[in-house]
Amino acid sequence: MDLMEAISNRRSIRKFKQEPVKEEDLREIVAAAIQAPNASNKQMWKYVAVTNREIIEQVHEAVSLKVDAIVNACETLGAGKGKKTAGHKFFWTFFRQAPAIIAVFACPYYGAMEEVEDILGMKLSFPLPVSAAQQSIGAAVQNISLTAHAKGYGTTWMYGPVMAHREIAAILGVPEPWVLSALLPIGIPDENPKARPRKPLDEVYCLLK
Ligand SMILES: Cc1cc2nc3c(=O)[nH]c(=O)nc-3n(C[C@H](O)[C@H](O)[C@H](O)COP(=O)(O)O)c2cc1C
Repeated sequence: MDLMEAISNRRSIRKFKQEPVKEEDLREIVAAAIQAPNASNKQMWKYVAVTNREIIEQVHEAVSLKVDAIVNACETLGAGKGKKTAGHKFFWTFFRQAPAIIAVFACPYYGAMEEVEDILGMKLSFPLPVSAAQQSIGAAVQNISLTAHAKGYGTTWMYGPVMAHREIAAILGVPEPWVLSALLPIGIPDENPKARPRKPLDEVYCLLK
């Protein structure tokens, strides 16, 4: 598949057929992830693919319990906002019905910026909570999304399950300092969603010449 076609036609997929995902496809999808640009080429990432139904159920249970606790807290502490939060539950837990998931872990990154901070004895003030590790993981996850799509699979880049990161790391047997950064369900799409709207290019882009 042509790269621009893959970029334009990829959609977040939240409904999957039950056909299994081939092991060699999962391997090739993760092989694409590790080709991503990453800070100082330190490759501070780890990928755990799961096709075992029991384990996917355990991961789902961990996230589901967390969402319920958050919904209760929003109801009591957040002035009755539990119902609104409960509306997000599907978007944080739908990975349950995918035949496979890929959990992406990052580990703390010590790069040139962190070294400068140590030399100066102070934190540099970045305007957003961004980090080289997060950006590297983002590039890898995008490679997973596009490669899965090019192979005829659907996926969604999911941050929601990270709310149960400790429980998921324990279930998957991934020790500290690795931290769950994203989770992607993978399967043959059982829906054909329309493209979600994007802001007009000229609203977000300018060329200074
Ligand atoms: C960092 C990140 C986190 C996301 N987390 C979730 C999530 O937890 N659940 C979900 O349903 N979609 C999640 N999405 C998917 C977005 O909702 C989706 O990409 C966006 O609505 C645009 O739709 P499209 O991917 O079909 O173009 C996430 C996307 C990104 C990039």
